[in-house]
Amino acid sequence: MEESVVRNYELFDDNTLDNTIRPETIEEYVGQNDVKENIKVFVQAAKMRKEALDHVLLYGPPGLGKTTLAFIIAHELGTNIKTASGPSIEKSGDLAAILSSLEPGDVLFIDEIHRMPRYIEEILYPAMEDFSLDIIVGSEGNSRNIKIDLPPFTLVGATTRAGDLSSPLRDRFGIISKLQFYSIDELSDIIKRTSRVLEMPINDEAALELATRSRGTPRIANRLFKRVRDFAMVKNFDIINLEVTKEALDRLKVDKIGLDATDRELLLAIINKFNGGPVGIEALSSSIGEEVTTIEDVYEPYLLQIGLLKRTARGRVVTDKAYEILGIEKE
Ligand SMILES: Nc1ncnc2c1ncn2[C@@H]1O[C@H](COP(=O)(O)OP(=O)(O)O)[C@@H](O)[C@H]1O
Ligand SMILES: [Mg+2]
Repeated sequence: MEESVVRNYELFDDNTLDNTIRPETIEEYVGQNDVKENIKVFVQAAKMRKEALDHVLLYGPPGLGKTTLAFIIAHELGTNIKTASGPSIEKSGDLAAILSSLEPGDVLFIDEIHRMPRYIEEILYPAMEDFSLDIIVGSEGNSRNIKIDLPPFTLVGATTRAGDLSSPLRDRFGIISKLQFYSIDELSDIIKRTSRVLEMPINDEAALELATRSRGTPRIANRLFKRVRDFAMVKNFDIINLEVTKEALDRLKVDKIGLDATDRELLLAIINKFNGGPVGIEALSSSIGEEVTTIEDVYEPYLLQIGLLKRTARGRVVTDKAYEILGIEKE
């Protein structure tokens, strides 16, 4: 019986669950206080002027709440949101179709905006600046330029790497916000909120333990919560306690400070194969079999943040703290 519950539950893809636990209003959005306060002011001012909000660029590592915030911005503006992702906009017609479907004040959310083809970017510039679309229609020899007026809209772009955006594109965003890793208290709040939404109680100690081991990232906190919930359910617990949390996290190989297997592999590779560094990102990448971009976007930011890794001009170096945490004598 319990087993089938767990199995059925696995059928939900993460997105389905993501949507139910995703906060909808800015008040429910935990942490990121500076970003939130600024956005509140800009949204209010735009509404007072009855203008579209200036274009917003959100950047930071995966799972910190960029998509969530884009939806919240539209919610706070009281407008619709249309979504697209950089790599999916292949032809100028794709972009033209999206842009011409917008209504005044709408939000257009483009995820992974750094992966948009350059020629699409160039169509976006006048659209962002003057709300006009210049496109070429017809076939070779018989083509002409047409100019279409667009309603005022707000582009919200999200990216894990702001550095990969061309500067003309970056310059066209009036509001640029970097999302930060979350504190343990903030992650605890997020976990308790998820517990209420999914109707599986968790006690304070257990929430704190989960928060400590979530790598500063709400997506990870929610994912671990769901896994711990599975363990609690099959054990017939009606509340998640510290014991079941620890057991589940140990089984999932999430260590005391939230490092996962790849984090540890990365640090150990630098220590064992490269004598602690410095090592170039390419060499590190082939040594652990992870793509350079995955290392840079997903793994490194947190290891840098908690001081286990350093970036120097000559490459990555592990810190004394990393040796200590991994229990390895420095030679
Ligand atoms: N500030 C926050 N408060 C509460 N939950 C959050 C917050 N930020 C993110 N989340 C949760 O984490 C998950 C991942 O967030 P998401 O917006 O998809 O991250 P990103 O787009 O940056 O990769 C979402 O399902 C959401 O429920
Ligand atoms: Mg996202």
